[in-house]
Amino acid sequence: MDSHACFLTCWLLFPALLSADPLHAIGNIFKPLATPAELVSDLSILTLVICAAVFLIVAALIAYAVIRFGYREGDSRSEPPQVYGSNQVEIAWTVVPILIVFVLAMSTARITSAVQDQKIPGDAVQVTVVGHQWWWEFRYAGLNIVTANELHVPLSTAGQRKLTFLTLKSADVAHGFWVPQLAGKTDVIPNRTNRMWIDPKEAGVYLGNCSEFCGTQHAKMELRVVVDTPQDFEKWVSEQQAPAAATAGNQRAFLASSCIACHTVRGTRALGRLGPDLSHLMSRQTLAATEVPNNATTLRDWIKDPQRLKPGNKMPTVKLSDSQLDQMVAYLTTLK
Ligand code: CUA
Repeated sequence: MDSHACFLTCWLLFPALLSADPLHAIGNIFKPLATPAELVSDLSILTLVICAAVFLIVAALIAYAVIRFGYREGDSRSEPPQVYGSNQVEIAWTVVPILIVFVLAMSTARITSAVQDQKIPGDAVQVTVVGHQWWWEFRYAGLNIVTANELHVPLSTAGQRKLTFLTLKSADVAHGFWVPQLAGKTDVIPNRTNRMWIDPKEAGVYLGNCSEFCGTQHAKMELRVVVDTPQDFEKWVSEQQAPAAATAGNQRAFLASSCIACHTVRGTRALGRLGPDLSHLMSRQTLAATEVPNNATTLRDWIKDPQRLKPGNKMPTVKLSDSQLDQMVAYLTTLK
């Protein structure tokens, strides 16, 4: 097996090798696991049922007319009798469609306001989501946490409802925030703030992606929502709030590099804001907006040539010798 095939196999197997958390694979919009997604799913099913009924009735009438009244051997070639001005028929085909559109419009309005009118409870988790070309930044203002690409939120149960509110902003172009099993798509637009909320009802990892074309690596702008039990969430919060690890020698090498112009490691003079915050880099499962598992090998490959995995991305290739690269990886892998 060549290295590329091995890489693919490892990557395909990778979700199964994750922690005990179940991985909710992308795509099943008909298995919603949060209130906003459930409401949207119910509305979609109502719409599909109504449209399917209309389609079946119209198709059946057309089929009947074609079969029953089609030209047969021996029929006369003259024009059939024409029917004009039947009030009953005209009223029926005007009123019925109006009623259908009315039902669909009212149901849509009801669901839209049910999602948008949700009040923010005092204990809600508030996160600002910033879309970047091509990664996601998550800032928990109240908790003093900044992370990237993997959004941790608490589980919401019937006994203990816990909401997470997201404030969506863009650092550059238009993106779209979409985690199909949690909520509908929400645009992430420059100079505009959009809001949404989720209350995930099952713990685990949910896959999401950018739903609006935003440049060459749009397809590699994925994200994960990690839904933790309340205890796990608290543990994650305290780990993220802890100061970044410091290992004298290798840290000095990192702080002397140009990496600090774009990246932050809290408590050091690395205060860059252009790239992901690295204070607790190794607490994340993946690298490069969830493209590869996060470990010393992939991290080394990524730093050595970021353009190989994600051509066009904004991380420049920094010329480093093999030993410098080792030092950098040695330091970064201590940031747990
Ligand atoms: Cu960001 Cu597409």
